[in-house]
Order: sequence, then structure tokens, then C-alpha cells
Amino acid sequence: MSNGIALETRGVNKRFGGVVAANDVNLRVESGELRCIIGPNGAGKSTLFALLCGIQRADSGQIFIHEHDVTRMQQFKRVRLGVGLTFQTNRAYQELSVKQNLAIPNPGLSHTSERHELAKERLEIALNGFDLDPQDETIAGELPHHKLQWLEISMVLAGYPDLVLIDEPTAGMSRDETDRTADILKELNANGLTIIVVEHDIHFVKSVAQKVTVLHQGKIFMEGNVADVTADEEVKKIYLGHAH
Ligand SMILES: Nc1ncnc2c1ncn2[C@@H]1O[C@H](COP(=O)(O)OP(=O)(O)OP(=O)(O)O)[C@@H](O)[C@H]1O
Ligand SMILES: [Mg+2]
Repeated sequence: MSNGIALETRGVNKRFGGVVAANDVNLRVESGELRCIIGPNGAGKSTLFALLCGIQRADSGQIFIHEHDVTRMQQFKRVRLGVGLTFQTNRAYQELSVKQNLAIPNPGLSHTSERHELAKERLEIALNGFDLDPQDETIAGELPHHKLQWLEISMVLAGYPDLVLIDEPTAGMSRDETDRTADILKELNANGLTIIVVEHDIHFVKSVAQKVTVLHQGKIFMEGNVADVTADEEVKKIYLGHAH
């Protein structure tokens, strides 16, 4: 299946003082993929997401979204190209209700009606799958932890993206909640959503991944199918060296 490249980086570099957070990153994700990015603490996973969506600027290299060069494009314009991001730490508005949080995002303006319908379907899949009611007046801050994470994923989908970057969605979740998250992401992907997910939970990675990219010290260390990557001795070593 190839519907073109959803996202591509060419030789992307980013330093924070002496720390090399992205080191010549060449990443290519096709439309329709569900890609997992793994790597130890400080490997540069969140930095890569920040670069992709425009929160951080690359020091050098290029970034393409649906073949548009977005390297110097502002964040809100990337959103219009269909990119949605969830953060590693909760960003839902704790003092607002579930209903208000789901009403905040601004659906992409450049959508064709066909893309719009698909995106609406995906939001429905998430709301149903995560047991979230868009009319719910419960204050987000009162939701259990996992429900807040699910609300965040749903908020991103309420912006009608066709590419989402999800940073550690299952952190702090029980096994059942993690499995449910994996199932819904798979269903969204089957519905055409391109998903790039950073995750440490190997059980989760094994259950969702088609292809896995391992980051280490800002560099792509290995890329391949989930069985090969998780069996790789060098990958095991870098993980053991940085227990999460
Ligand atoms: N805004 C920043 N200013 C300075 N240093 C930063 C900044 N953001 C990230 N770093 C550094 O860049 C490196 C990569 O950090 P990043 O958060 O991308 O790692 P990560 O792979 O997401 O780690 P984790 O698994 O802990 O979330 C780390 O050494 C981090 O301290
Ligand atoms: Mg991170």
C-alpha cells in the first residue's frame, strides 16, 4: 500500500547547547502507516515531534509533510496541512468540561469534503471506543488519568487531522487501558489515519506496530519490523542501559 509519503525528514539536526537531540535524522513515513518510535529516555523522540509540528526549529535539514516543504512553516499552517499532535504531558484544559475541550480544536480549513467526512468518522471511532460523550459536562480535571489521555487523543482528532503524532499515550495506564488504546489506534489507522506514536511499552508496540524506528542519542539507530527490532541485541542493550 503506498499513497505517497505523509512525512519525510532529510538530514535534520537539532542541538540544545551541548546536547545533540536530533542527529542527521532521515525519517520517511508513508500515508496510511502506523509507525512506532521507541528509544531510551533523552533519545530525542519528543524533540523530533516538536520539530515535525513546528514547536521547535531544526538547526539544519528539511522537513516535508505531504511533500510540502514545511521546514520554515509556522505551526498553525502545518495544522492546516493535516498534522495533529498530542503531548507527553497532559494538555487538556483541566478546568473545562469534556464538552468544552472537544469543542476547542479548529478543524483544518483546507479539507475537501471527502477528507472531512473521513475525519469525522475517525472522531466518532475515538469517542465511541474511549467511551467519551461530546456533550459530557464533567470537568476534565476530575477524569481518571487514562480518560484524560483518551480525551487528549480525541481532541486532536477533533481538529480533523490525517496525520497524528502521539507522544506516550499509555504512560501510567493499566494493561487493559493500554490494550484498549492500542485497539482504537489500530481502528483509526484502518480507517486511513496515518499515525506516528512514541511509546515505551513494548507490549503496546508489539500489538500495534507495522514498522518500528529506534532513536538513540538523536540518531535513527535501527528501523524494521517489530519482531526484528525487539529481538535485536543492540536495541536491548541501549534499553537496558537506560531503564525507563
Ligand atoms: N527545550 C529544551 N531545552 C534544552 N534541552 C532540551 C530541550 N528539549 C529537549 N532537550 C534535551 O534533548 C534531549 C532529548 O530530549 P527529548 O525530550 O526529545 O527525549 P525523549 O526521547 O522524548 O525522552 P523521554 O523518553 O524521556 O521522553 C535530552 O537530553 C533533553 O534534555
Ligand atoms: Mg519524550
